[in-house]
Amino acid sequence: MTIIFVSSEVYPFQKHGGLADISASLPKTLTQKGLKVKSILPLYEDDTFQDDYQLFKKKTIQFGQESIETEYYTYTFEDHEYLFVKNSLLSSLDPNETFLTYLMFNVSVLSILKDLDMSINIIHINDWHTAFIPFLLDAMFRPVDPFYENIKTLLTIHNLERQGQFDRSYETYLPYKNFTYILNGHINFLKTGIMRANYINTVSKTYKQEILLRFYGFDLDSALKARQDHLEGILNGFDHHLYDPTTSSTLSINYDIDTYEDGKSINKKALIESLDLEDASLPLMLFNGRLGRQKGIDLMKSTLEDTLLNENMNLIVVGEGDSKYESYFKELERKYPKHVHFHEGFNKTFSEKAYAASDFFLLPSLFEPSGLNHLIAMRYGSLPIVRATGGLKDTVFNEGPNQNGFTFVNYDEEEFHDVFLEALRMYYDKDPLLEEKIKHAMQVTSHLEDMADSYISLYQKVLEDE
Ligand code: GLC
Repeated sequence: MTIIFVSSEVYPFQKHGGLADISASLPKTLTQKGLKVKSILPLYEDDTFQDDYQLFKKKTIQFGQESIETEYYTYTFEDHEYLFVKNSLLSSLDPNETFLTYLMFNVSVLSILKDLDMSINIIHINDWHTAFIPFLLDAMFRPVDPFYENIKTLLTIHNLERQGQFDRSYETYLPYKNFTYILNGHINFLKTGIMRANYINTVSKTYKQEILLRFYGFDLDSALKARQDHLEGILNGFDHHLYDPTTSSTLSINYDIDTYEDGKSINKKALIESLDLEDASLPLMLFNGRLGRQKGIDLMKSTLEDTLLNENMNLIVVGEGDSKYESYFKELERKYPKHVHFHEGFNKTFSEKAYAASDFFLLPSLFEPSGLNHLIAMRYGSLPIVRATGGLKDTVFNEGPNQNGFTFVNYDEEEFHDVFLEALRMYYDKDPLLEEKIKHAMQVTSHLEDMADSYISLYQKVLEDE
């Protein structure tokens, strides 16, 4: 089976969020399982690997009245083949993308496929940046070239909130008018993908159900309902080779499920000291992720501030995103310099140290398609405090024989407050249940193999789709 995997971000070339992690680990795992997979992604100006890329082809991509010089580069990294698309529109992965930037990226992807010298079964696209591909395939490529006739498409939704919405005046760029790309009077990339891809999936079973509801659907619930019989949920996995407390060379000391008590406390002491925070005997809370509304930061504010005021914890925050949240955590750090550290930006080395040092991992999301970082935290023995939604609901359990963290149900400050205080109480009381939770948490599996196997079964269905 031959798959073209298209994504706007792939770690380590470019990373804004979890999409980059999955776009790295899934194709690699599929290749290891014997599929032929090639990844196609944009070449952004700040890509630090680009000196090593090899020019593969130059093309002038014609599109309606527009034409753009496009260069394609190849690069093999960790035994996986990447093809980078470079043109003057694709400067950086920032939130101000224009219609033409990603429309031309989508056209460029389809335009190069024939030059790859392989027969292609499926184009696996991800999120809105790639979601016009099925429409363009139908409108521009299939009608004129039999090479494209039987190529199928799968759209994976990692983020339903960002949809690529543009003014309808851009319709003049499209080969013909069609209702499938319109939502609320705008051209909508993600809706186009939902309506036109052979199959759609999202990244957990619970989230797959949730997005059919108005609250979680971001106006796409109707479109998703219309495609419900071609919609699946596959839980994300994380790359267990990249995150392993028993072998990682970044930690002060390695540890496993039998030695975590000493292991974690040595790592904690080292990190607290190196950051000039006070008192390693306090519980250490960690938030590590994209700083966006989705992640439930607003819900935590009053509880975090009360706890800091009473000097009952230390807090480390790692991430970047909306400036209002960045300013918030900068301010919190200024106010409580002995108990708060804000590390702006994504940094794997620092993240690992923080996973190992922390006691609890905060992710009380408003919505969460899958979530990856809480799984990594669990492997390092840091207990997740999460809202039971999306992928968090499928992986974190508050009660029962497999309990491995703390959950609450409603997006409600008081519910968060109560479960947060319960976690602190357990820590201070040295409650034996905490040890049980940690041991279960540390046994979290990466799901990487299961995830790849589920995608292979889904690809099979996609191929059979009429
Ligand atoms: C997005 C989602 C997150 C998911 C990731 C990778 O960042 O918010 O839940 O884990 O994509 O699929």
